[in-house]
Amino acid sequence: TPQALADGHGRRFEYLRLSLTEACNFRCTYCLPDGYRKRAGAPAALSVAEIARLVAAFAALGLWKVRLTGGEPSLRPELLDIARAVASTRGIRRLAMTTNGYRLAERARDYAAAGIGALNVSVDSLDPERFARITGHNRLGEVLAGVEAARNAGIDAVKLNTVLMRGINDDELGAFMDFVGQHDLTLRFIELMRTNDNVPFFTRHRLPGADIAGQLARAGWRPVAREAGSGPATDYAHPSGRGRIGIIAPYSRDFCAGCNRLRVSSTGKLHLCLFGDYGSDLRPLLAEDSHHDELVARIRGLTAGKDAGHRLHEGNSGATPHLASIGG
Ligand code: GTP
Ligand code: 5AD
Ligand code: SF4
Repeated sequence: TPQALADGHGRRFEYLRLSLTEACNFRCTYCLPDGYRKRAGAPAALSVAEIARLVAAFAALGLWKVRLTGGEPSLRPELLDIARAVASTRGIRRLAMTTNGYRLAERARDYAAAGIGALNVSVDSLDPERFARITGHNRLGEVLAGVEAARNAGIDAVKLNTVLMRGINDDELGAFMDFVGQHDLTLRFIELMRTNDNVPFFTRHRLPGADIAGQLARAGWRPVAREAGSGPATDYAHPSGRGRIGIIAPYSRDFCAGCNRLRVSSTGKLHLCLFGDYGSDLRPLLAEDSHHDELVARIRGLTAGKDAGHRLHEGNSGATPHLASIGG
């Protein structure tokens, strides 16, 4: 059996978040308000073959879950080939994807057939006009139809992601709670994170996770234990038994103590953390199968030196211009 990936702070890494592209077709106000623009001279995204070698190396280190992210991963024309390659890698037991829901209704069955067993879909408002204002696209109905289609396609874990922001959509907290109960869905509220590009927006609209937790508690939601190997989010359930709500609050104390993930950018840089890390280029070792052992050793060595936490509390937003650049 492979020797597990671990760092010097007692954390084990079984989960890789792999960005497939920096491009996104939405223009979320907190992420890419002016839309995605390709950087001149930027390297191409990893090919299917490079991705297969990368994932084989992580799997050799005991990692068993991969989440495809972006940008918007469904913009990659080779998405299904990539999914099949990852899902069929020996040792990979779980393939997940995070998407804005673009064309999900028509593609959900293909995703499931290619091995995608879990899907997180961003839904920042349940009001169509507001959804359009936040994302730049009048597609709420389509995205919700996509969520339904994904559940019907047999994708067994479909979750909603909602960035709750002061003065933008925080008045919808009650509507989200009702929606989750009615549809027996899992939703996670994500605390707005400060990145290099969104500082004034962040300052104006940040809603601390603790405020969200307080409102959930007053509405009767209770914290529940999470399964072994789950990451830093906290989960809540309602006594009525239907629906789950999680809170992802990176500014809370000890958030990083539960960190179980590593990230690789769309061009093959290993990021040990979402923040403050420029990434280490693995690409030179992805060109040939013969570099496998060296790649494994490099990943192991880099991971051992992962910092204890992100230091966001100290105002750090470091090297992260926006989350689309690294895959959230
Ligand atoms: P699962 O537990 O597999 O569902 O994954 P997840 O919740 O990490 O996945 P998802 O891609 O839906 O992420 C939701 C949000 O959480 C995104 O905004 C991520 O950037 C954020 N997030 C995920 N992991 C981390 C992390 O390690 N640190 C911080 N600060 N934020 C994270
Ligand atoms: N803060 C919090 N969440 C963010 N996301 C993107 N940028 C930010 C940010 N600055 C979220 C998206 C999506 C997830 C992958 O990341 O809304 O749900
Ligand atoms: Fe892990 Fe960094 Fe996220 Fe903290 S912020 S949980 S260390 S990736």
